[in-house]
Amino acid sequence: MANTILVGAQWGDEGKGKIIDVLTERADVVVRYAGGNNAGHTVYLGKKKYVLHLIPSGILRRNKLCVIGNGVVIDPLGLVSEITGLQKMGIKVGRNFVVSETAHVVFPYHRELDAQREVLKGKNKIGTTKRGIGPAYGDKVARVGLRMGDLIDPARLEARLSLRIKESNSVLKALGGQPVSFKQVLADYNKAGKFLKPFVENTVVLLHKAMRRGEDILFEGAQGTFLDIDHGTYPFVTSSNTTAGGACTGSGVPPHRMDRVVGVLKAYTTRVGEGPLPTENQEISDLLHGMGREFGATTGRARRCGWFDSVATRHATMVNGIDDLAVTNLDGLDTVATIKVCVAYRHGKKRYDYMPNDAAVLAACEPVYAEFEGWLTPTHKAKTWKQLPPKARAYLKAIAELTGAKLFIASVGPARDQTIFV
Ligand code: IMP
Repeated sequence: MANTILVGAQWGDEGKGKIIDVLTERADVVVRYAGGNNAGHTVYLGKKKYVLHLIPSGILRRNKLCVIGNGVVIDPLGLVSEITGLQKMGIKVGRNFVVSETAHVVFPYHRELDAQREVLKGKNKIGTTKRGIGPAYGDKVARVGLRMGDLIDPARLEARLSLRIKESNSVLKALGGQPVSFKQVLADYNKAGKFLKPFVENTVVLLHKAMRRGEDILFEGAQGTFLDIDHGTYPFVTSSNTTAGGACTGSGVPPHRMDRVVGVLKAYTTRVGEGPLPTENQEISDLLHGMGREFGATTGRARRCGWFDSVATRHATMVNGIDDLAVTNLDGLDTVATIKVCVAYRHGKKRYDYMPNDAAVLAACEPVYAEFEGWLTPTHKAKTWKQLPPKARAYLKAIAELTGAKLFIASVGPARDQTIFV
């Protein structure tokens, strides 16, 4: 299958966990390259549900090497409980799992700062997952962060943590937040460091060795294109490069070794947290929530829902270089008589066929819609392209054409066998 980057082409929650799981069958190595435990990738195997936050979904298959790359920020306590949770469910997490020694560490003061900054922003809050992601990446860029290599070295951890806690606590006090206890954090993180030490390695060297052996790598994107720190709806974004370029910087695998980009997108649009969502629609939100769908895997928050936005997905194709599309949640539209698709935005007299960079302009854009006849037939049992209703096929073809990439997969439910290769 060659080296493949899988990215979310919308605002996250596109159903990447399931598609990654399906594609993992053909990969040797699976790499997470950005984000942290703000992500929640849900995979169903039979009746069992697995929600992975940091560990690549490849862990659920045998003989796959799973790597957390340098571009990820790691909450070690969260990672320890994810590993032990999987082990309790009978999933092997041992020599098949490796963590970059240069991935940055998330500390309790990052979480506390995340929460306090949200309070300070008031009605302009981002609606973060409060996992400390922004402050942890902030420390990385400010060159004061601690990395996994520091975590597993008790003397270095103690020396560096003491300085970081002093500074962070003074900021927290000024913001009215709770200072954190150096003693407690040191004890908890030393324990986690000891547990995680066998997994920590130079993953750049490891990945290049794997490529020299001719192994195929799947790069597992987290969040989505419009949550990217550079290409998203800033400031309503996460703090990492969630787009395809992040796979190179977040793993140490160079651009010319990437063979293909798969974009995952829902047959409609969703977003969690604040920020512009031009096609947001109450009716479709109510419909999907009423079906018990579209609640966040990490925070349980109800997702905001809207019609398919092809201006956004076309932009995502451009920024990521998407070759192939995996469209998920088609079955979510099974009962909709008339399905709308946004084909352009209108802002005053201006018509946009691309995403404006200014979040305030985007928020004021009115969608221009095309309408499609709904298929009004359950699709969840379809196993092949031909078994899909003709109107569903027409819809899929239309959104792929508008998005500007090749339709590769249509997904009609959470299970592995609800995956149609087109
Ligand atoms: P943060 O990543 O926790 O800082 O949150 C920043 C924004 O990204 C918020 O709007 C979150 O809801 C959103 N976000 C972060 N991770 C995910 C994800 O995995 N899926 C969907 N939205 C996310």
